[in-house]
Amino acid sequence: MSQTITIDPVTRIEGHAKISIQVDDAGAVTDAKFHVTQFRGFEKFVEGRPMTEMPAITARICGICPVSHLMASSKTVDDLMAVEIPPTGAELRRLMNYAQFVQSHALSFFHLSSPDFVLGLDSNPAKRNVWGLIGANPAMAKDGVLLRKFGQNIIEILGGKRVHPAWTVGGGVNEPLTAEKRDEILRTIPQAMDIIQRTLPWFKKVFEGFNDEIASFANFPTLFLSLVHEDETLSFYDGFLRITDAEGNIVVDKHDPKRYGEIIAEAVEDHSFLKSPYYKPMGYPEGIYRVGPLARLNNCKTTGTPLADKELLEYRSRLSHPVQSSFHYHYARLIEILHGIEKINEILLNPTILNTRVRARARVNRNEGVGVSEAPRGTLIHHYKVDDFGRMTWANLIVSTGHNSLAMNKGVLQVAKKFVNGKKIQEGMLNRVEAVIRCYDPCLSCSTHAYGQMPMDVEIADRSGRVLDRVTRD
Ligand code: MG
Ligand code: NI
Repeated sequence: MSQTITIDPVTRIEGHAKISIQVDDAGAVTDAKFHVTQFRGFEKFVEGRPMTEMPAITARICGICPVSHLMASSKTVDDLMAVEIPPTGAELRRLMNYAQFVQSHALSFFHLSSPDFVLGLDSNPAKRNVWGLIGANPAMAKDGVLLRKFGQNIIEILGGKRVHPAWTVGGGVNEPLTAEKRDEILRTIPQAMDIIQRTLPWFKKVFEGFNDEIASFANFPTLFLSLVHEDETLSFYDGFLRITDAEGNIVVDKHDPKRYGEIIAEAVEDHSFLKSPYYKPMGYPEGIYRVGPLARLNNCKTTGTPLADKELLEYRSRLSHPVQSSFHYHYARLIEILHGIEKINEILLNPTILNTRVRARARVNRNEGVGVSEAPRGTLIHHYKVDDFGRMTWANLIVSTGHNSLAMNKGVLQVAKKFVNGKKIQEGMLNRVEAVIRCYDPCLSCSTHAYGQMPMDVEIADRSGRVLDRVTRD
């Protein structure tokens, strides 16, 4: 008799999901799937709303990624208005976006994943969390808190409100930066720099103890998708879409993000509410690709900042290029934090950041617009259609976590096959299956396009897919 092992909920990720693993009589894993179990249609909800409200509305999709949606949504509204935004407006948006990367990556690395690195994947699950981390390595726990605060503080200084800043609008940003605020941010940079510069060497030693995990944590060939600047440096905000393959060859280059539909299609799978995008010319599921830190560092030539470039060189010399194991999302994430802090400093030291022309004003000049940005978790696509009065008639969002859906599923199966023995289940086995998901730092609020508070929905189904029971908690 085959049986199913269910991990529900997956712990230390943003949102609710479960994993089910099927094993045969001998205890060997035959299948494993990552299910996203909650859904609220967001794209339908926005129909009829004025396009100018979209940045603020979409920022409410998720409490973790409001800034990322602000960026993609504002860029979409720029496109609908057919305006070129003033350079300082664009630079201020980038500034906020870098701050978002630092705070979000810090949350992922320190709060969600470092308990595994500090306490070990086989440690007692009751202690393998941020509280256990505080007990075992209080300095590191504190670093995580401070680094996250550094990013959040910048977002708050710029946006005025920490969680849902509506400061980024179509055409640019609402308000120029004052010298006072600039100096306030500049003063916080040395501490953030110190933290990342002691965390990177620490992690470079630690990950060598995880060779089995590196070998099996979604370690397989896929394509990689990200934005890249025209000069091939690492981009978090603008540039062109690039796709590289598992050998490092460029498959798609200088692709206009507005024409994403030519290279990306979305498959719907019945086991999950997460759609599964794939590279269109290769079809589904062969066109599997990954986004996020691993993809961005595989796709860029350099980061474009001196300290992160030094780290990138070492990253590439220590690991084979392109990097295949999703375990190295963590390492890539730390390099991106360093890059983000360098960019924040660089942007603020340029006197033009205080220019007061920060917003272009226009009405609707196009009935269809696309905005693509990089979010900490990967490429984020907003696509809107509006009527002549700028009212929303249609929306499509493809979020970072969605792009990684196929790779997360394949990764769960790979890890389960290596570590799970259905005859004698040990907690550490199941934690590894969850840990592969944590590498991607999925944001499930975003990937289900939920609006506001979401209920938790748990379904129990038999093997034919028939729902036997459902529990919903608001
Ligand atoms: Mg969508
Ligand atoms: Ni999110």
